[in-house]
Amino acid sequence: MNTASKPRLVHSAILMLVLSLFTLSVARADSPLEKHMEHMKKAYKELSLGLENPQESNQAAYVTLAETIKSSALQARDLVPELAAKLPPDQKATMVKSYRDAMDDFVVSVDGLIKNLKDGKWDEARKDAANLKNEMRDGHREFRRE
Ligand code: HEM
Repeated sequence: MNTASKPRLVHSAILMLVLSLFTLSVARADSPLEKHMEHMKKAYKELSLGLENPQESNQAAYVTLAETIKSSALQARDLVPELAAKLPPDQKATMVKSYRDAMDDFVVSVDGLIKNLKDGKWDEARKDAANLKNEMRDGHREFRRE
């Protein structure tokens, strides 16, 4: 190899590296469904933290956090999980239906949590929050790709 072609080779290698890093980052970008989930996670974490030592003066903020969980869940409900999108049409329809049913049940549970927060029933609200976590685990086990 002559010495003039060496810098060109290095240049191409760097270009390939930059291109593959870019492709990887695009491939890993959050889907809209994941964005709603991330939003839900942030609100859930904040609420759980608040409920460890609830303050009456923060009651309205707790309700707002639970309402954020609800609106994120409702938006996620109308999207299609990546796992379902990859299935043949008939299996996809079945999975999307059961995903939506599970999300509807989840929203009913969030409504229960909102009510208990509005009534200042902190012990009940903590139980509701723990149940949401169980529903999350079941939903992820069934509908989230590995
Ligand atoms: C408090 C409740 C929940 C939280 C905090 C939560 C959080 C998250 C987070 C952070 C992600 C993205 C990162 C990852 O894949 O780990 C995710 C993904 C996902 N979650 Fe949830 N989740 C909750 C409830 C649920 C429920 C009830 C369901 C289904 C009924 C569900 C279905 C999914 C699916 C399908 C994905 C993958 C996204 C995709 O396929 O595009 N999640 N969730």
